Amino acid sequence: MGRYFLTTPIYYVNDVPHMGHAYTTLNGDALARWRRLHGDEVFFLTGTDEHGLKVQRAAEQNGLSPQEQADRTSKRFKEAWDLLDIAYDDFIRTTEPRHHTAVQRLLERCYENGYVYKDTYEGAYCVSCEAYFAEADLLDGICPIHERPVEQMTEDNYFFRLSAFRDRLLEWFEEVPDNVTPERYRNEARALVRGGLEDLSITRTSLQWGIPVPWDTEHVFYVWYDALTNYATAAGYGTDDERFDTWWPAVRHLLGKDIIRFHCVYWPAMLMAAGVAPMPRFHVHGWLLVSGAKMAKSSVMQIAPSDLADSLGTDGLRYSVLRDNPFGPDSDFSYEALVQRCNSDLANGLGNLLQRVTTIVGRSGGTVGSAPSPDSALAGTAAQVYEAAAAAWDRVQPSVALAETWRLVRETNEYLQVRQPWKLDPGPERDVVLGDALEALRIVAVLAHPAMPGACAELWRRIGLEGDPAAARLPDAARWGQYPPGLRVEVGEPLFPRLAVD
Ligand code: ME8
Ligand code: MG
Repeated sequence: MGRYFLTTPIYYVNDVPHMGHAYTTLNGDALARWRRLHGDEVFFLTGTDEHGLKVQRAAEQNGLSPQEQADRTSKRFKEAWDLLDIAYDDFIRTTEPRHHTAVQRLLERCYENGYVYKDTYEGAYCVSCEAYFAEADLLDGICPIHERPVEQMTEDNYFFRLSAFRDRLLEWFEEVPDNVTPERYRNEARALVRGGLEDLSITRTSLQWGIPVPWDTEHVFYVWYDALTNYATAAGYGTDDERFDTWWPAVRHLLGKDIIRFHCVYWPAMLMAAGVAPMPRFHVHGWLLVSGAKMAKSSVMQIAPSDLADSLGTDGLRYSVLRDNPFGPDSDFSYEALVQRCNSDLANGLGNLLQRVTTIVGRSGGTVGSAPSPDSALAGTAAQVYEAAAAAWDRVQPSVALAETWRLVRETNEYLQVRQPWKLDPGPERDVVLGDALEALRIVAVLAHPAMPGACAELWRRIGLEGDPAAARLPDAARWGQYPPGLRVEVGEPLFPRLAVD
């Protein structure tokens, strides 16, 4: 048993959620559920990033106040997460009072410790990134990330002495070999530190929509330094020290590769400046690409999670997204691939297995008279599958974990194909085969629960078990031989309908 504090980025409320956001959040939810299955105390955090110029401008365009824009869009994120069955423990909004307190406290510590000073700043600013760019990083005056023109801005503001943290950051990379995973993003982050660190402008006077700088209230904090602090806020920084000390050492941040610099360089330096330890761990993923381009709110290619959930079902969407888009590299995102994955693994794979077993059991009274056999060939498979899946979840590779889990589905289907229980007369020989298959289904319901909480609960119920696989405890629950004889099995509609490719 351990403690696991997992975060997603907090998403901007200038526009509604798309599948890119859903991707990070789904991976987070599945990882959190996997840890809960092991009895860990889990704190899974998501939320919305509500200050800054980008949100203020979106509000103006929509004829709303920034607060109304934030209220409205934050609600849309919550609705999307409800629809996708995301079991977050906290949803933080940066406009909440607890967050104001934490931001002011954390940055005041940096100020008191001598890492914040006042100066004039002039530079090229991308409103979509909410970030200044060095001329050298622009492509012909265009933001390399959003491919939109930048704006020249001049401001008197406060600077964070990032340059003072080069050595300490490099030491942290030295000391913690898995501070950022996968390796390619760790190398990228470390190269940013090695490449030299310029001080950062962390406040604005040109903007109202932000958290006031406590020692100079003409200024508000620049949205990114406000935003990063959300992770500390939610753990209790500035409001509940004991809670913060409990959760902070267990923190892990999930994020897309677009925000590595802020998370893996600036944020650790801010924590060091404020005297907060230890440093978080970071798990970075690549982009979902549609026809080779990043899916984004600013792009016409954005895909709404609700549209996909309508056609694939919540669990079909969750499973196929997690299974088909490995955490780490960029991956092509296509509706056709998701449909194919649902049909092969869910309709034909798990759904068919359940249907075959329950139909045969149903034909002879609805119960099976014997427990799974200890020397079943499937027992060895189940043990290997748990080990391999657990290792993959630990490496933050849900796609691999699910591929491993489906080995048990496949081998159980093959086992039925070989033993052909539908040809056997009712009796002990047939009961052994069916008992084995039901036991395999029980184990799959537990191992697949993080990806498909709804469908796995239904699977659990159909094979006659009480409660919900969420209440099972691993690794015990993966041990072969626990499906009890005599349970009433239900024959129902196919668990996963076969989807038409249109
Ligand atoms: O950057 N593929 O918010 P944001 C995969 N508010 N993931 C994607 C994606 C894609 N095509 N597009 C977006 C911000 N994401 C800041 C974060 S955190 C202190 C502040 C996901 O609304 C991915 O997790 O632009 C990425 O990092 C995040 O959405 C950016 O969301
Ligand atoms: Mg973005």
